[in-house]
Parts: sequence; structure tokens; C-alpha cells
Amino acid sequence: MSDHAKLSYAGKDYDLPVIEGTEKEIAVDISKLRADTGLITIDPGFKNTGSTKSAITFLNGEEGILRYRGYSIEELAEKSSFLEVSYLLIYGELPTKPQLEHFQNEITTHTLVHEDIKKILDGFPSNAHPMGVLSSLVCSLTAFYPESLDPNRSAKEVDLSIIRILSKMPTFAAWAFKNQIGHPVNYPDNELDYDSNFLKMMFALPAEKYKVNPVVAKALDTLLILHADHEQNCSTSTVRVVGSSQASLYASISAGINALWGPLHGGANQAVLEMLEQIEKDGGDTSKFIAKAKDKNDPFRLMGFGHRVYKNFDPRAKIIKKAADDVLDQLGVDDPLLNIAKELEAIALKDEYFVEKKLYPNVDFYSGIIYRAMGIPTEMFTVMFALGRLPGWIAQWKEMRENNEPIGRPRQVYTGENLRSYVDVNKR
Ligand code: SDX
Repeated sequence: MSDHAKLSYAGKDYDLPVIEGTEKEIAVDISKLRADTGLITIDPGFKNTGSTKSAITFLNGEEGILRYRGYSIEELAEKSSFLEVSYLLIYGELPTKPQLEHFQNEITTHTLVHEDIKKILDGFPSNAHPMGVLSSLVCSLTAFYPESLDPNRSAKEVDLSIIRILSKMPTFAAWAFKNQIGHPVNYPDNELDYDSNFLKMMFALPAEKYKVNPVVAKALDTLLILHADHEQNCSTSTVRVVGSSQASLYASISAGINALWGPLHGGANQAVLEMLEQIEKDGGDTSKFIAKAKDKNDPFRLMGFGHRVYKNFDPRAKIIKKAADDVLDQLGVDDPLLNIAKELEAIALKDEYFVEKKLYPNVDFYSGIIYRAMGIPTEMFTVMFALGRLPGWIAQWKEMRENNEPIGRPRQVYTGENLRSYVDVNKR
């Protein structure tokens, strides 16, 4: 493999260094391009542009490979737990038993949030989208823990900030849901594990002896693992760029939540369910909607399909599709929307348009079916995605800080007016 690339421009030849990653990915290093050649590059959506070198998550879009710190997503989803995967992503290694127990205990004992946060929650009308509530409550942590504003504190202090947000975000998520349905919030129960505590805060009614369904708790933990990180996606890149200005962890995560909200990104799981409901309401003619998705003049897209990186099956979608069958079976739920989803997938995978453009189901295509079977309402689906992605955002922010990366500030090519003089308003 050559360790440099040649660029010829305006009669001059330039050698640009080529770097190779541990999984043989190669990149031409253009960090000196403008100084040496006067050129910049332009790449809307950064489809061909790497923003960083990272040791956290590896994707191979052609082969449908996803690994966290070298461990395959298939093994972690089957054998690990969300808190263990969170530790792995953030600290780089699987924890020993004592490390895991300490981490779990730390998370459990920081779940309570300052009572004044309820005043912020109460300020939201019940029709507030839970993602807006979540990003606001997360950002409010900067007020209750002002010491967290300085990202340059000791590793021990940064670790405490990390524990606090890992512990409190489930509380915020459940409170956002309770606010939406006009119910009183539930306080965390430190007798319960991470998943069970979240489910109880979400669904327990006042004075009810809430019983956690182990099938639901296990499905939740698996879904959180599958969403935990995904290298430099839109929301993670947002967290890294915001953090690169030395904004705090909480401000960076709050920005990531807002980036995830969009229907082209994490908001797709909500959009998939709304699409399936639309198809069902319209009589269930899946071929009609496949035709709409292919029609350039129709803004309709097959939500949950396609991916910037995966040009093969999203490995997460495969695991979630199987889990959807298992969970609905174990819960005795027969959801017609699952059948519509499977029909759409079957048609699309054989259709020339989708085959030629390499559009496959992504992580969002089936996840909503499971959330729905678990009793989680559609507008909360992207909150669930954020809960899962939190350790990934933290790990990526931490790596960016530890690598002392420069502030993210892309260049542009100006295409506006050339110099012109001001004209008095009376003469225009
Ligand atoms: C996530 O990046 C990540 O890692 C994200 C994520 C993570 O874990 O963080 O994996 C989570 O965001 C998954 C993606 C969820 N979004 C959706 O399901 C929304 C539907 N999908 C698309 O909007 C689209 O596929 C994207 C946004 C996911 C990717 O868009 P790209 O890479 O910019 O590709 P594109 O929009 O340029 O599409 C390429 C072609 C286009 O046709 P042409 O202009 O070349 O003729 O494919 C077509 C698109 O019109 N196309 C679709 C389609 N997705 C792409 N046509 C119909 N239905 C679709 N879903």
C-alpha cells in the first residue's frame, strides 16, 4: 500500500501522506493541503471526509460489521449488559468483576436528581416532545453541577460527571414521558438494576406495586447495547464538535440529543412507526408505498431504510428483527405493523431501485416495533435511542478531549456577491 498520494495542480506535483488504520482503512492526510497548495476540499455531508482517528468503534459498511473496542456487536448483544458495554466504550476495556460492581453501584447511587429540576419539567406543556424536554434537562445539569463546566478538571472529577449523566438520564427520560401523559413522576428505586429501575420510573402508577417483566427488561438492555455507539454519525460528530470548543460534557451531550432528534437520524425510529401506521390506515398496500419511495417527485422515503455507511445489512437490524419476533411472541403480542414491516422489507430487498442503491433496513426499521410492544409510546422512541447512545457520546467526547483535538471549524467556498458599496436607503 503506498504511503502517499500524488496531487498535480497548476503545473506542480504534491505528495500527500496516506495513513492506514488498524483495520486497513486508508486516508489521505490533507491537514497541510491549504498551506502547501492553496487548495481546500469540499464534501457536503462529509461523505468522503474523516474528521478524526478513533479507537472506539469500527464499522465496515460493505460487510455489515460493527465492533465496540474490537468486540463484535453480535457477541456483546448476546453475552454482555448495557452497563458493561458502557464501561467498555468509555474506558476501553471490559471491566473486571469488582470494576463492574463498583460502576453499577456508582450508577445506582446517583440516579436521584435535584428536586428543583422538577420545576423545569413542570414548565413544559404536556404536548412538549420528550426529546426537547430531555435535551433541556440534560443541559440543566450544568446549573446544578457548575464544576462540570470546566472540562479540564481531573480525570476523577470528569469520571464523576460521567457517572452523574449515565445515572440521571434514565430519570430524565422517564420524567419526560410522565410529563407527556400528565402523570406524577416516579423517583428512582435503588433496589433495582438499571433496566428495571427505568421501566418502573416509566410505567409505575401512583402507589402501585409495579412488577418488572423480565422479558421486557432483557429486550430493553439488548436494544440499549445495540444503540450504544456508531463511530462518527451525525449526533456523535455534533458532540465532538461542540466539545472541541471546550464546552462541558453536559452541554455537548445536550447538543447530541438535539442532532439525534432529526427524522433522518435517530428520529427515524419514530418516523418508521408513523409510516407503518400510515400504510395500515391506507389499507396496507405496501407496493404502493414502495413505488412512492422510488418516485423522485414524491417526498415519501422508506423510513428505516438506507444508511450512509452500511451498503449491506445493518448488523443491528438483523438482531433487532429477530428480537422483535421473540419479544412479541413472549409477550403474546400480535402487531400487524410487524407484518407490514416484514412485507416492506421483502419487497424492497428484491426491488431494483433498492438493490442498485444498496438500501437495506437499518437499526431504526424494527426497533420501534419492540418499543411499542414494551408499552413505550412512539414519541419516546428517539429518547430510547438517546439513552442507548449516551455511553458512545461520552466515550467519543472523552477521546476527543484526551487527544487534545483542535476546535472543529470547517472551511467553505464563498459563492456570494463580490465587493459592492453601500447605497443609502433613499436611493435604492
Ligand atoms: C441512523 O450514521 C449513522 O451511523 C446513523 C445511525 C447511528 O447508529 O447513529 O446508524 C442511526 O441515523 C440510521 C438512519 C436512519 N434514517 C432513516 O432511516 C431515514 C431514511 N434513510 C435516508 O434518509 C438515508 O438513507 C440516510 C439519511 C440514512 C442516508 O442518506 P445519504 O447517505 O445521504 O444517502 P442519500 O440520501 O444521498 O441517498 C442515496 C440515494 C438517493 O437517491 P439518488 O439521489 O442517488 O437517486 O438513495 C436514495 C436517495 O434518494 N435513498 C432512499 C432512501 N434512502 C436513500 N430512497 C428511498 N427511501 C430511502 N429510505
